[in-house]
Amino acid sequence: MCGIVGYIGTQQAAPLLLEGLTRLEHRGYDSAGVAVLGSGLRVAKKAGRVRDLSADLPKRFGGKIGIGHTRWATHGPANDVNAHPHVDAKGDVAVVHNGIIDNAAALREQLTDEGVELVSDTDTEVLAHLVARSTAETLEERVAEALAAIEGTYGVAVLHADFPDRIVVARNGSPLIIGVGDKEMHVASDLGALVRYTTTVAHLDDGEMATVTATGFTTYRQDLTRVQRTATQVDVDPASYDAGEHESFMRKEMLEQPAAAERVLRGRLDERFGTAHLGGLNMDARETREIRRVKILGCGSAYYVGQMGASLVEELARIPADAEAASEFRYRNPIIEHDTLYVAVSQSGETIDTLLAVQEIRRKGGRVIGLVNVVGSAIARECDGGIYLHAGPEVAVASTKALTNMFLGFALLALQLGRVRDLSISEGKRLIDALTAIPAQLQEVLDGEDRLAEIATGLAQAESLFFVGRVRGFPVAREGAQKFKEISYRHAEAYQTSELKHGPLALISPEVPTVAVVPDDELTERNVGALHEIAARRGPLVVVTHPDVDLRGLDVQRIDVPRSARELDPILLTIPLQLLAFHAAQVLGHDIDKPRNLAKSVTVE
Ligand code: G6P
Repeated sequence: MCGIVGYIGTQQAAPLLLEGLTRLEHRGYDSAGVAVLGSGLRVAKKAGRVRDLSADLPKRFGGKIGIGHTRWATHGPANDVNAHPHVDAKGDVAVVHNGIIDNAAALREQLTDEGVELVSDTDTEVLAHLVARSTAETLEERVAEALAAIEGTYGVAVLHADFPDRIVVARNGSPLIIGVGDKEMHVASDLGALVRYTTTVAHLDDGEMATVTATGFTTYRQDLTRVQRTATQVDVDPASYDAGEHESFMRKEMLEQPAAAERVLRGRLDERFGTAHLGGLNMDARETREIRRVKILGCGSAYYVGQMGASLVEELARIPADAEAASEFRYRNPIIEHDTLYVAVSQSGETIDTLLAVQEIRRKGGRVIGLVNVVGSAIARECDGGIYLHAGPEVAVASTKALTNMFLGFALLALQLGRVRDLSISEGKRLIDALTAIPAQLQEVLDGEDRLAEIATGLAQAESLFFVGRVRGFPVAREGAQKFKEISYRHAEAYQTSELKHGPLALISPEVPTVAVVPDDELTERNVGALHEIAARRGPLVVVTHPDVDLRGLDVQRIDVPRSARELDPILLTIPLQLLAFHAAQVLGHDIDKPRNLAKSVTVE
C-alpha cells in the first residue's frame, strides 16, 4: 500500500524520488506525487502511475531535497488533489503520510472553524496545516506538536521551506527507514526503495522521530528526548529487487523456490535427534511441552498456508491446531489462553490485521511467535519469538516463495513440537529426510512448466472455475483458487470435494472446469469417486496428484508431482497451481506483478 521516499544530498532529488517510487509500485497504489525544495517548494502529484507523473514533471523541479509518495486511496477517491504530498495554505509545508489518522474528522472541523481551507478529502492534509500553524522554533518541535494532536498510525516525512536543510520523519505503526549514503541520505517506507543506493540503514521504532540532513541523522522520541539509533549494514542483495532477465517478479520468485527452501531449512535440522532446531522461538523444552493448543493467524495466502500449518501441527505433534483469518480474530473478543501458542504468519510483517491480532493477544497476556519474512518488521518485533523465513525479498503481489517457506517453517515447528511429545525419533528422521529432499522436488515440479502453461491456456478461457480438495488438500485448493483469481481475474472458487454434492455440483457444466487436488492418502478413493461425479456432468477436469494414483479411467488433464512424506505433500501440490495461475494471467495479458485493486502489503484495516 502507500509508500514513502525522501532524498537529501548533492544530486537532483526529483529523478531519484521517481526512481524510488517506481520501486514501491508493487505495494499497490493509485496515485503518486513528489515535493522538491529548490528555490521554493514545488509539488507535482497525479492520479495514475508513476510514469504518468514523470511524464508531466516540469523541468523546473530543481532541488537537492525532496519527498515522494505512492497513495492507496482510503479517505477520498484516487484523484490529483487527494494524492500526496499535501501542503499548507501558504505552500511552505509538504507532508507525505502512510497510515490512518483516526481523529481526522474532528481535526478537519477544528481547522475549518479556525478559518483553514482544506482542499482535499484526505486525513493527511490536516498534518500539513497543523505543522504550518505551529509557532514553535524548530521544525522538529512543530512536527512533534502536530503529531501530538493526532491519533492513529503513521509513517510521515515533512519538508518545510523555512528549514531547507532537513527532512523530519516519524513513525507510529507504519515503517520508516533511513538510508545512509555518502554526503546524501535517503528515507523510505520499504527497503526496496533505497537498496540500490545504500544498504546502510537505520529503522525507526514506533513513537520515534528523526531529523535527516545531507550528512547524517538524529533520532528522538516524540517528546524530543534523544534516543540512540545507529545505522547497520543490511545483508540484502540489491539485485533481488530487480526482475533481471525475467518478464515478471512472480516468475522469478517462483523459480527461486528451491533455493529459498534450502535457506529456511539450513541449520535447522537436527539429524541426530530427528528434530528441528528453532532457537528463535525463545521457549525451552518444558515450556514447549506445556502447549495445549496452537492458533495460527494470517491474512490471504498466509491464512491458507496457516491452515496447512495447522494440519502439520495436529498430525506431527498431536496438538489441537487451527488457523483463522487475522482480520476477523480480534473482533470476536477472543479468549486468550496461557497454554495456547499463537502463531502470526506474514511475509511482509506489516499486514495491519495480523499486527493488531498480535497486539490483542499480547495485551491479554498470550504468547505469540511469528513466521515472518521481513527481518525487523513490525510483526517480527512485536512477537515473543519466531522463525524467520529467509525467502529473500518478495516483490510480486501474489506470494510464492514466501508461502513455500511459511509451509516449511510450519513443518519445522510441528517437528520440534512433536519431538518433545510423542513423535518418535524414527518418525522425526523420516520427516527430516523428506524435508531435505524438498528443494530438489520443488525444482522437479518447476521443470514441468511448459505443460502447465498449456493447461493454463485452456483454463484461462473459462469465466468460472472450481478448485477442490479434501482435508490436507483443501487449503491447497483454497490457495490455488486465491492465486488464480488474484492475477487472472477469473472467478475461482475453492470447495471441499466432499461438499460438492451439497450445492456446487449444480454449477458443473462443460464451461466450468474443476482443478482437483488429489494427494495419495486415505481419501484418494473417495476423491476419485467425486471426480467421476464431475465427469458425469461433463465438467472438464485438471487433476493435481502423484504418479501411480489410479484415477479409474477418468479423462482428465493430469499433473503428477513427486511424493514427499504425506504430511509434506501439500507444498508440492501447491506449486503447479502457482504456475497455472501465472500462465493463465499471462495468456490474458494481465499485469502479473501488480494485479488490479490489490496491494502487496495491506497496512490499513
Ligand atoms: C495481501 C497480499 C496477499 C498476502 C496478504 C498477507 O492481501 O495481496 O498476497 O497473502 O496480503 O500478506 P503478508 O505480508 O501478511 O503475508
